[in-house]
Amino acid sequence: MSAAKIALLAGDGIGPEIMAQAIKVLHLIEQRNSINFNLMPGEFGASAWFATGKSFPDKTKAICDQADAILKGTIGLSHEATQQIPVEEQPERGALLPMRRRYDTYANFRPVYLPSDIAHFSPLKPAIVADGLDILMIRELVGGLYFGAKETGINEQGMRFVKETLEYDEFQIKRIVDIAFQSAMKRRKKLHSIHKSNVLKSSVLWTDIVVETAPEYPEVEVHHVLVDAAATYLCLDPGQFDVMVMENLFGDILSDQAGGILGSLGLMPSACVGPEKSYYEPSHGSAPDIAGKNIANPYSMIGSVAMMLEMSFAMETESKNIWRALQQVFASGYSTPDLNNPDGDMTMVSTDEFGDRVIEELARLKP
Ligand code: NAD
Ligand code: IPM
Ligand code: MN
Repeated sequence: MSAAKIALLAGDGIGPEIMAQAIKVLHLIEQRNSINFNLMPGEFGASAWFATGKSFPDKTKAICDQADAILKGTIGLSHEATQQIPVEEQPERGALLPMRRRYDTYANFRPVYLPSDIAHFSPLKPAIVADGLDILMIRELVGGLYFGAKETGINEQGMRFVKETLEYDEFQIKRIVDIAFQSAMKRRKKLHSIHKSNVLKSSVLWTDIVVETAPEYPEVEVHHVLVDAAATYLCLDPGQFDVMVMENLFGDILSDQAGGILGSLGLMPSACVGPEKSYYEPSHGSAPDIAGKNIANPYSMIGSVAMMLEMSFAMETESKNIWRALQQVFASGYSTPDLNNPDGDMTMVSTDEFGDRVIEELARLKP
């Protein structure tokens, strides 16, 4: 019997509702495998700030430091509610970015996956998505504008100004580019590097490093696409993409666009991988508009569990089983109400019921 310590950071908004479904899945997985999950809950985000005055309290840091992997729900409040919290303690700046920095989780994997039998969830025309979508977006997660030097003040003309720096060095770019090539080798051997080198010097260095790295992976076909054009191609012809790699902010924006073309951010799980520790979270936020209603889609959270089992605990079979169980719930005609139901033949269920149905399907699959 092996043991695994998992920090559970449910967070704010829909976080606790979808985390509850992930916990059901973890319990079933541990019941039928020779593994014991030590689940260690911690306060994180706006809820932690209200409870303790810190959005990433020391106690939570200690729990995360001890954990073999971290499973995180969602953090954040509505724009208005956020104003109650001092700027530096607001959960994005006070908890999430410090966590990414603390564990150097530079490689963010955001799968954009829609099998053909549920292509009707996409708002794109059937001619564009009939064959389904299967893209792996890889986002650099600890560099760029998010972490560069910042300055605010009053300039010589007496005007308020702000300066934010987009910084990368070649080590930071090379390590994420390598991850992207390695991922491409495991998939369709096609890599799109997303850049803006017609304007940004950071993208010139980025592209140089992609070009210099390409000979190490001669089987991978490399395409360089400007980020603005990539946004269009994602709508008009997403099928051309397999692995896409990009810097932090581009990845933030294009991955939410990808959630849009799937039909809901609720279909976007993710893995944030560092050299020693990784954490797993939905790509989306705390959805304040639907929090507390038991209607959030837990797919992204449960999919993040599947990614954790594969990437942190080498439990490939159970990871695949979870993906299959999620798809099987849709195939048997159930979904949460965020997803499009054009023929009116799907039954809309709550967050809890969706979670229960995943468990039912998972129980049928051999560990
Ligand atoms: P959001 O991602 O929370 O929501 C955008 C839209 O998607 C909303 O209509 C929401 O209802 C819907 N949605 C998101 N997840 C869903 C799910 N699982 N099921 C059904 N519908 C879902 O974005 P926002 O409203 O711009 O941000 C809210 C807060 O979340 C902000 O404070 C933001 O900073 C924060 N945020 C946190 C994370 C994170 O924890 N990693 C990520 C993104 C945003
Ligand atoms: C995401 C989120 C975060 C980001 C926010 C909440 C800081 O939008 O994980 O995509 O911008 O990275
Ligand atoms: Mn985002």
